[in-house]
Amino acid sequence: MAKYSILVVNGPNLNLLGTREPEIYGHETIKDLENMLKKVADELNVDIECYQSNHEGDIVDKIQNSRNKVDFILLNAGAYTHTSVAIRDALAGIDMPFYEIHISNVHKREEFRHHSFLSDVAVGVIVGFGLDGYEFALRGAVRFLDRKH
Ligand code: DQA
Repeated sequence: MAKYSILVVNGPNLNLLGTREPEIYGHETIKDLENMLKKVADELNVDIECYQSNHEGDIVDKIQNSRNKVDFILLNAGAYTHTSVAIRDALAGIDMPFYEIHISNVHKREEFRHHSFLSDVAVGVIVGFGLDGYEFALRGAVRFLDRKH
């Protein structure tokens, strides 16, 4: 039986990975990312579900519906990071531990990317490691859960 259940949520425009501003986000696609995460999840003996949506309300629904089903969320909320009180409230509302992930180093980009509505309710933040950040986050989530159980 799998040890834990982990949900990976990618927000708006991350479906375009591979073709979207490759100098910032790289050449790998979201499928490549999900395949890599599934391999690491197998190695760690955890269940993983990968979800992507461009719609704020759908992301809120997905988070709410993960209550009592998922142990941890890995979240790259994309641009909603900088705008969405609703996504923050959903995570806080179900008391779900999560890591906030950004592929790029948002702190060396435009000023509007420096503020996050999520960071102060996240367990941690992973920024600027490219797609490797998701792998680090997955391994980190399992260690976090191991310490808790
Ligand atoms: C991003 C950074 C955000 O500012 C941006 O809107 C994204 C991707 C990242 O992964 O670096 O869509 O979250």
